[in-house]
Amino acid sequence: MKEPIILAIESSCDDTSAAVMVGGTLKSNVLASQKVHEQYGGVVPELASRAHQSHIVPVVSEALKQAGISKKELSAVAFTQGPGLLGSLLVGASFAKSLALALDIPLIGVHHMKAHVLAHFIEEPKPKFPFLCLTVSGGHTQLIRVESPLEMHILGQTIDDAVGEAFDKTAKMLGLPYPGGPHIDSWAKKGTVQNYPLPDVQTEGLDFSFSGLKTAILYFLQREVQKNPNFVQENLADICATIQEKLIDTLLKKLKKAAQETQISQIAIAGGVSANSGLRQKLLQEAKSHQWEVFIPKFEYCTDNAAMIAINAHFLYLAKEFVGQDAAPQARLAW
Ligand code: KG4
Ligand code: ZN
Repeated sequence: MKEPIILAIESSCDDTSAAVMVGGTLKSNVLASQKVHEQYGGVVPELASRAHQSHIVPVVSEALKQAGISKKELSAVAFTQGPGLLGSLLVGASFAKSLALALDIPLIGVHHMKAHVLAHFIEEPKPKFPFLCLTVSGGHTQLIRVESPLEMHILGQTIDDAVGEAFDKTAKMLGLPYPGGPHIDSWAKKGTVQNYPLPDVQTEGLDFSFSGLKTAILYFLQREVQKNPNFVQENLADICATIQEKLIDTLLKKLKKAAQETQISQIAIAGGVSANSGLRQKLLQEAKSHQWEVFIPKFEYCTDNAAMIAINAHFLYLAKEFVGQDAAPQARLAW
């Protein structure tokens, strides 16, 4: 078979991205982030869809240009089918469909969360199968057993908020800009973990829960601010260090449990929160004591990007798993 040349489009949330992959090798990965949401402290869905509309053509053109590929050379067009914000997904899906129709080439629908896992196959080193992947993003927190590029099973997931959401909502309480995860990360580096009265959230099996901790943080901050109105400003670094440690410990506790239960020692992390320096550091410490081989993608492949959609589409192309022009994007796409 001729090496597939795939154009991939990601538009599930607030980043418009396009990538070109030739025979499994990434040739370009272009991203336009949307700054418009910062002032609102969260992604505003309608503004996100409009920004995707403005960005999509220049982002795709730039991805093709950087790869040195013309539209006529493409073997397939891939797009994120879900999960994500429906209005955002529709922009990428409609664009991909029109292009595939015009060029008379196959269309590939990609599951955003599976693509986060397969980000590990964009570059070396790649994990060996089976491996465990902790996928931690703004919308999801999942522990996945990966058997092959196209066979993955969810072992556990959050029953309420995603861990990225817990980072972002806590940051908002502390008056930090959106998205708050990276801000908590950098403040935490300057602080010391304190023995604040915050609970360890207990959940069944390999599932996660973060909403109880989020509420406990809110009440804790309200109590302390009542006693000292400058509590947050005076202790920001320590508060961030303490909260970050709590969130990371919850993730690692379940990851250790999964590794023990499955006897799998190839461990990967994926998704936006895997950019967190505290999580990376603690994971490497755990790896030493449990003889795990740990895989952490490059920063640009952790947060939303089209390169991960492209590598997933590459595997789907080889398996001839295409979708029709009737494929509808879905906010809650089934696994
Ligand atoms: O995967 P992603 O880019 O988008 C979703 O699919 O959700 O993840 C975004 C999430 C946000 O919640 C953001 O705050 C978080 O990843 N994040 C971080 C860091 N960098 C991004 N959280 C903690 N520490 C970081 N360094
Ligand atoms: Zn994502």
